[in-house]
Formats: sequence, structure tokens, C-alpha cells
Amino acid sequence: MRISALPDGLPTVIEYDGNGAILDTVRDNRAAIRSLITEQGAVLFRGFDVGGVEGLHRVVRALSGEPLDYTERSSPRSSLSGNVFTSTDYPENEEIFLHNECSYQQNWPMKVYFYCLTPAATQGATPFADVRRVLDHIDPAVVEEFTRRKWSYVRNFGAMGGTWQYFYDTDDRAEVERYCAAQNIQVEWIGADGLRTRAVRDAVRRHPVTGADVWFNHATFFHVDTLPAVYREEMLDMFGSENLPTNSYYGDGGEIPAEVTKHLQEAYRAASTRFDWQRDDLVVIDNMLTAHGREPYTGARKIAIAMAEASDAAVGTP
Ligand SMILES: [Fe+2]
Repeated sequence: MRISALPDGLPTVIEYDGNGAILDTVRDNRAAIRSLITEQGAVLFRGFDVGGVEGLHRVVRALSGEPLDYTERSSPRSSLSGNVFTSTDYPENEEIFLHNECSYQQNWPMKVYFYCLTPAATQGATPFADVRRVLDHIDPAVVEEFTRRKWSYVRNFGAMGGTWQYFYDTDDRAEVERYCAAQNIQVEWIGADGLRTRAVRDAVRRHPVTGADVWFNHATFFHVDTLPAVYREEMLDMFGSENLPTNSYYGDGGEIPAEVTKHLQEAYRAASTRFDWQRDDLVVIDNMLTAHGREPYTGARKIAIAMAEASDAAVGTP
């Protein structure tokens, strides 16, 4: 294994050194690679012949075990093969803001894999931000307020915001209620076929292996102010603020002031790094240490994603 760094820092690179297939490298150096991911937050395998989506599957199994299913869908995705998905089908001319995958859930994947099948023609990077550094960039008074009040997210399902049947993959209200109760999500049925859910979560969490405090939440990502300006106005006109498909608040339901959301956006951006994808690049992130986003792009960009290692099963060893 040859380890090097990109100009922007993240991710750390494991370069092909001319010996063996990626699967041999992963199997022979499994413990060292896992430690590297937990220290650095993101590792890029470059120059290997990964072998397409099936090859990605094999690497995930060798390094993490079986990939996880994608439960509470927050963005449109298509399945490529089993639990390997397209990164997202979100419009290509829009940025996707930095976030830690599924940090709004009660459980989340500890590892996320990104695999470049086709790079974009222009832009299309997956920026990364070390959320230990994001936390350092946030005013301590803001951190204190979120630690005390926590944060919450509200979802409204209906014809325009996507249906609850699609989201929860069932037509059965009782099943939705059972799932939500188990996930600490409050449920409110509205009108004939509407549903509003609300969940309160911690904003700062402790990494189970390193013990580091991390800014780990979707308070910025889900906030209406983080939507592109053109959508924000349209959505507010169409739904009104309390019926938005998603929005975030403090845990007690209080509004997060615009200047606080702006400050949080700036903290993420200050910690953000980027690199250009090359075909067959494979990145593994520690999802509690590293947030990811997506630049707008042109061209036929295709990134496969897999999630692994449920947080409730994390046992404190890398
Ligand atoms: Fe994501």
C-alpha cells in the first residue's frame, strides 16, 4: 500500500502500487485500513481495478460486512444492485449541501462508500468536511444552545412533498406508526392522506471509537434557508413554512434564526475540501467524522454508494 495526501487533505489516498487486486489489498491490510479511516475520516483507493458495482460489493463485504438497506429516504435514489445505489438522482445543476448520511435517524451507517463509475464532464466533486473541524468553527454559544435544546426535523408528506407510502415503503398506517415509535419519531396524520412527522435528536455526538465530539446532525441541511434561493421562495409560496416537505428547528420547536443557519453553513464550508473524481476511484468515509456533499455538474456522472456498519451495532473497535 502506498499512502499519500491530496492537496486539500481529505481524503487520504491509498494508491495502487502495482501489486495484486483491490480485494487482496483490503484483506491483507484490513485492520490498518480501518484504523486509517477512523483517524483520517476518509480514504480514497486510486488506480485499482475495482471491477464495477460487483467489485464494490466485494470490497464492502471484505472491509465492513454486508451493506445496509436505505430506509428513511431523504433523496431520490435508484438501486444499482442489491444495497448499492446511485448516489442521488437530485437535479444535476444544484449543489447538495454537506451532511452526514442519515444523521437525522436514530441509527445511521458508520461507513459510507462512494465509487466512481463515470466522472462528471465539469465539477461534480463530492466535497468532504471533517465534522470535528466543523464543530471548532461554530461559535461555542451556538454549540451550547444546540446541545441544550437539541434539534428537530419535521417532515410533511402529501401529494407534492412525496407520499408517506413511498417513503416508508408501505400502505399500512399501523406499520408506519410502529416504525416511527421504534425510531423515536412522532406521528400526526393530517386530512385524508397527509402525514407530519417530527423527531428530536442530539446535535453533537461522541464518536464511539475515537471519543471525539462531532457536529452530527441535519439541522443545517434540512433547514429551508439551505435550499437554493429559487426553490426556497417557491416552496414557501406553495406550502407555507409549517407544511414544507422538510424543515429543521431547535428540539423544543423554536425557529433557528437565519443568522444561525448562515453561521452553520459557513462552518461547514470553512472545513470543506474537494478533489476531482477519476473513473474507478473508491472512497470510504467514517460517516461520523466526515460530512459529504455534491457539487453541481454537467455530463453523465455516475457514483455508486453503499452504506455499512449500523451505528447501534458499533462496538467501539475500528
Ligand atoms: Fe448523502
